[in-house]
Amino acid sequence: MTFDYTEEQIAVRDAARDLAQRTMKKGVIERDTHMKYPTEEVRQMAEMGLLGMMVDPAYNGGGMDTICYVLAIEEISKVDNSCSVIMSVNNSLVCWGLERFGTEDQKQKYLTKLATGEWIGAFCLSEPEAGSDATSQRTMAIDQGDHYLLNGTKNWITNGGTSRIHLVIAQTDTSLGHRGISVFIVDTSWPGVVIGAKEDKLGIRSSDTHTIMYTDVKVPKENRIGEDGFGFKFAMQVLSGGRIGIASQALGIAAGAYELALAYSKERMAFGKPIFEHQAISFKLAQMATEIEAARLLVHRAARLKDAGKDFLAAASMAKVFASETAMRTTIEAVQIHGGYGFVKEYHVERLMRDAKITQIYEGTSEIQRIVINRQIQLGELYPELS
Ligand code: CAA
Repeated sequence: MTFDYTEEQIAVRDAARDLAQRTMKKGVIERDTHMKYPTEEVRQMAEMGLLGMMVDPAYNGGGMDTICYVLAIEEISKVDNSCSVIMSVNNSLVCWGLERFGTEDQKQKYLTKLATGEWIGAFCLSEPEAGSDATSQRTMAIDQGDHYLLNGTKNWITNGGTSRIHLVIAQTDTSLGHRGISVFIVDTSWPGVVIGAKEDKLGIRSSDTHTIMYTDVKVPKENRIGEDGFGFKFAMQVLSGGRIGIASQALGIAAGAYELALAYSKERMAFGKPIFEHQAISFKLAQMATEIEAARLLVHRAARLKDAGKDFLAAASMAKVFASETAMRTTIEAVQIHGGYGFVKEYHVERLMRDAKITQIYEGTSEIQRIVINRQIQLGELYPELS
């Protein structure tokens, strides 16, 4: 594996770092406290092409590789994880899914607007009783000839309140189990789409997470993605790409907390010297740096496999489970290094600690990632780059 970055990758990383550190950092505490949606920051991400980074320029995207994408998410996640989850869902769950599996008409009509950020998208799989067990869909789409009638409720939907387009997973034939699940493009301006209240969350507080209700929503036949019954496989494939995005978000949280803790430890004096020079703190920093580096290698391995067109299923799950657990451990240590200051908002590390938790839960919990990895072990398909 090469560790060199191209000029484009370095330029993208530096631009994202600049946006995060110079612009997003200013209001991040206030947005987090008041659950204020980062409208201006999302506009700037759109302007910089960060919302459709990997989409073909023919559909208004940036035509960049997955390494550019993970580098950008890492930088933004050092500062504002509400922004990075908005970015991750739009790029990897919505745009990638549409580009990979949508028809030419669907791409022209929807992807061209989602890739620029003119429209934001949401991925609607989870339900009140279908989280990890994603095959237990209760949302129904009944075939009515020229359209489907969609009814059901989706939970924890990122971009729920601000998205124009939903990719909705729904059961079309209950007798077929997961093979009777399909996926639809739903325009939120259609009658029958009701957005519930914004969730008041532990972390990523300014991203808009909502329950969505669909009541007798008429979805035209041409808005189904792929064949009838393709929805579960669509969700699984899209989620494996999405997990690379969340893994890089977790990596950014860990790296951001580490950078803050390192800077603080060089300034803070105790017992006559900077705490950085005390072994108790230096060992913590060494451990944090090692785990972050390991997480980065896993994230970049998954990204490179995806760019090479190889199987990245287990690699994405490994990256997500390791990076998210690194984010949790590292942010707890960053708060500890800051002592009492770490417990107050002004020092940023307590927010990163709260944000870290969701990376172990969404787009598949750590437990689900271990199931996915173990199934690949059993199939003997762990190291696709070697075969
Ligand atoms: N690619 C293609 N097909 C796949 C696949 C993949 N990666 N994974 C599974 N499948 C196929 C299987 O081959 C099987 O098809 P056949 O029966 O036709 O052969 C079918 O899907 C069912 O697979 P399983 O038997 O493995 O299904 P399962 O019920 O055991 O569940 C699971 C598998 C991995 C646990 C899955 O349910 C899962 O990933 N759950 C977690 C869901 C999740 O990640 N939710 C996140 C919500 S979205 C979110 O958080 C977004 C946000 O807003 C931030």
